[in-house]
Amino acid sequence: LHRYFKAKITGNNNLNKNFILLSATPYIETIAPTPGQFYMLQAGRGYDPLLKRPFSLFSHEDNVLQFLCRICGKGTTALSRLREGDDIKIIGPLGKGYPKPPDDFIVVAGGIGIASLLPLIQRHKGRAYLFYGARNKEELVMSGEAKASSKEAFITTDNGSEGQKGMITDLLKDSLLAARYSLPVYACGPSPMLKALSNIVKERGLKCYASLEEHMACGVGACLGCVVKTTWGYKRVCKEGPVFDMKDIIWE
Ligand SMILES: Cc1cc2nc3c(=O)[nH]c(=O)nc-3n(C[C@H](O)[C@H](O)[C@H](O)COP(=O)(O)OP(=O)(O)OC[C@H]3O[C@@H](n4cnc5c(N)ncnc54)[C@H](O)[C@@H]3O)c2cc1C
Ligand code: FES
Repeated sequence: LHRYFKAKITGNNNLNKNFILLSATPYIETIAPTPGQFYMLQAGRGYDPLLKRPFSLFSHEDNVLQFLCRICGKGTTALSRLREGDDIKIIGPLGKGYPKPPDDFIVVAGGIGIASLLPLIQRHKGRAYLFYGARNKEELVMSGEAKASSKEAFITTDNGSEGQKGMITDLLKDSLLAARYSLPVYACGPSPMLKALSNIVKERGLKCYASLEEHMACGVGACLGCVVKTTWGYKRVCKEGPVFDMKDIIWE
C-alpha cells in the first residue's frame, strides 16, 4: 500500500462561503488512517510543488477520503475550484494521530480544529465532553454533527452569535471547577487557544494531547519547515506530530 497516490474528486460541496467538504476517491487501495493523521493535498489543476497543503483526515469510508477545508488563501482557493472528475495528488496518511481515549474524554476544538477532532469524537461516540469555540456562528462548522456524537457539548463564539459569548478555554476552566472532571483532553485549534489550554491542564494536572497546525512545506519530514520547540528538542510537526503531549511543548 502506498502513501503517494492519485485520486479522483468525487464531491466538492460548499458548506458556506468559508468551508468546503472535499471528497476524493483514490485509484488504488490506500493505508487506513487514524484520527489526527493528515494528508498533503496537491491543490489546483497544475502540479505546482509549492501548492501542497496539509489537511486532517475528516473521514475515510469505502475508500473515499473526505477533507473539511476552510478557504483562506491561494491553496485552499485552488482546492475550492476543483470539480468532480478532476484528479488530485495526495500523500498520506502522515504523522502520528491521537492516542486512543481510555474512556470518556474532553475535546477542545477551536475553529477548523474540529476537522481533526470530529473523526475521534465519532469513533468514540457518546464519550466526548465537547468544548467547541469559534469566532462566530458561520465559523462554527459541523457543530451539529459534533454535538450529535458527543456526550455533552459546550459552545462559545467570540461575538455570542451562537452558544455562550467568550473564549472556549474560559468556559472549560469554569466547567472544570464546577464538575471536577479528571479526564484526558484532546485539542486542536489556533496557537493562542492551545497556549491558554496548556496553562489550564497544567494547573489541573490533566493529561492533554494537542494537535499543532504549523505551516508545512514537504509534510514528510525532509525540509524542517515545521519544527516546534519541545522539552526533548526541536521536533517536526509533520513527523513526530502533529499530535503532541501538551506538557512537552515549549510555548514561545
Ligand atoms: C497537520 C495540519 C492539519 C490541518 N488540517 C486542516 C484541515 O483539516 N482543514 C483546514 O481547513 N485546514 C487545515 N490545516 C491548515 C491548512 O493547511 C492551511 O489553512 C492551508 O495550508 C492554507 O493554505 P492556503 O494556500 O489557502 O493559505 P496561504 O495563502 O498559505 O495562507 C493564507 C492565510 O492562512 C494562514 N495560514 C496558512 N497555513 C496556516 C496554518 N497551518 N496555521 C495557521 N494559519 C495558517 C496564513 O498565515 C495566511 O494568513 C491543517 C494544517 C496542518 C499543519
Ligand atoms: S513540513 Fe517538511 S519537515 Fe515537516
